[in-house]
Amino acid sequence: MTDASVASAAEQILLAERAPDKRPIVKTFFDDATFTASHVVHDPETKAAAVVDSVLDYDPASGRTRYDSARKIVQYVRENDLNVIWQLETHAHADHLSAAPWLQEQIGGKLGIGADITRVQNVFGKIFNAGTSFARDGSQFDHLFHDGDRFQIGSLNAISLHVPGHTPADMAFVIGDAAFIGDTLFMPDYGTARADFPGGDARTLYHSIRRLLSLPEQTRLFLCHDYKAPGRSEFAWETTVGAERRHNIHVHDGVPEEDFVSMRTKRDATLSLPNLIMPSVQINMRGGHMPEPEENGVSYIKIPVNTL
Ligand SMILES: [Fe+2]
Repeated sequence: MTDASVASAAEQILLAERAPDKRPIVKTFFDDATFTASHVVHDPETKAAAVVDSVLDYDPASGRTRYDSARKIVQYVRENDLNVIWQLETHAHADHLSAAPWLQEQIGGKLGIGADITRVQNVFGKIFNAGTSFARDGSQFDHLFHDGDRFQIGSLNAISLHVPGHTPADMAFVIGDAAFIGDTLFMPDYGTARADFPGGDARTLYHSIRRLLSLPEQTRLFLCHDYKAPGRSEFAWETTVGAERRHNIHVHDGVPEEDFVSMRTKRDATLSLPNLIMPSVQINMRGGHMPEPEENGVSYIKIPVNTL
């Protein structure tokens, strides 16, 4: 599909599902250790559900994982009798570990990510010298989404949009009148995601954002992170296309591409790497699985010295 026909397919879904009874129900779980918003979206009619961007708790000092955050999702799914058919990742996150494999064991769902995850696997497979046992074909995931793929969550129509820039493989999932847009836009008062990770690109991010902002104004947008803008006391993770177009401090309507690229590039140069980038990338590029255990049965996470 061309860019325009994908956008209009997404628009058709949104227009068809503006009726209140077709609105997906979204419950968000916010992890304030990594500032990540995980979402459970479901169809009220059939109880079919998808989990978007789950978090596995990780303590870097001890190298231990915990399931406290993921357990809250399991509890919510069971209490509401939801039938989880997808575990969706908007991208390979660099700031938290995915709990998708553990959640699959508890509540099911096929694990899906953007097809260009293979590019991310190639780049980070080299950086971490992951060896030949690390497949770089996306086979750790159950499904690879392409731009314009249509799918169903119960009676809700959904479409995947390729929105690269933050990483080469970012996807947005438009489900009914709600779009799960990962790390592209943040809340209007905070701006946009960084574009300086390997394979990231500010200009590409600008185009992906403009594409998301071409969705109907009332589209609900669900973000992957919030860091509380200065002056705001509560975390927030939901906004609309209209609010972003009017108020986003980096990329509201009228901000020229060149201005955005220069702002984003300058700002990225001041940012330090996320605390959990080393474990996050090595685990998330493997679909949330730990690296192959060594002969003693223990999995290790590597730190490349003077590389990143
Ligand atoms: Fe990210």
